[in-house]
Amino acid sequence: MSLIDKIDKNRLPAHIAIIMDGNGRWAKARGLERGEGHREGVNAIKRVVEAASKASIQYLTLYAFSTENWSRPTEEVKGLMDLMVYAISRETADLKRNGVRIRTIGDMNRLPGYARTALEECIRETAEGTGVTLVLALSYSSKWELTTAAGRIAADVVKGVLPEGDIDEETFAGYLTTRGIPDPDLLIRTGGEQRISNFLLWQCAYAEFYFTDTFWPDFGEDALYEAIIGYQGRERRFGKTSEQIESAQ
Ligand code: FPP
Repeated sequence: MSLIDKIDKNRLPAHIAIIMDGNGRWAKARGLERGEGHREGVNAIKRVVEAASKASIQYLTLYAFSTENWSRPTEEVKGLMDLMVYAISRETADLKRNGVRIRTIGDMNRLPGYARTALEECIRETAEGTGVTLVLALSYSSKWELTTAAGRIAADVVKGVLPEGDIDEETFAGYLTTRGIPDPDLLIRTGGEQRISNFLLWQCAYAEFYFTDTFWPDFGEDALYEAIIGYQGRERRFGKTSEQIESAQ
């Protein structure tokens, strides 16, 4: 029995978010440049998007470049931007054929013009996709997202567009870059660290966390399915008791 057959199709996570970590260490362990790890990381992205499609996952969010990553050496930042643009341009036709819809979250204004153009083109080309929505977090951090949302809410209150009394969780979520995307059910982090690194802090309020030592370039179809199976073994109580959850089933 292959791993995908062990997944309960009735209890799939609608949204899986992944902190792809370990590219640099994967490369170092092989005596290679960090860029080689990132290049191999793109192959892992391809495998995981295909696996998510096969398992009928609706949303897959990948932490591809954080606000803090801007502080990496200039050559590495440039290398990552170029790699992303190359991969996006190369894969757009395939993504479209497979019904994958691309979306981005993060501060797109900070990206170089050529990267924004390539992403916008890919988003336009794949807009009609009805399969997995692949959300790329680029120049993203939760603290940036939350403070930006707070500023925009304040401005709308001052303008009289948003009555102060209307600010509830739903209204607030509508000001985030993830607007319209369901919260992640499962957050995976590869590479052995066990932290959230400024990623989807609001949205992961009730996500199940899954940490693995596997470096991102080694992550693939079976590793994703193992994480989903692990998730399905958890009891999600959302603050309620086990008894309440059982009696509602
Ligand atoms: C983490 O490994 C990985 C990143 C910061 C970059 C991930 C980006 C890609 C794989 C390319 C993106 C491409 C597309 C198409 C979205 P690390 O460098 O932090 O590894 P380390 O912790 O071992 O040093």
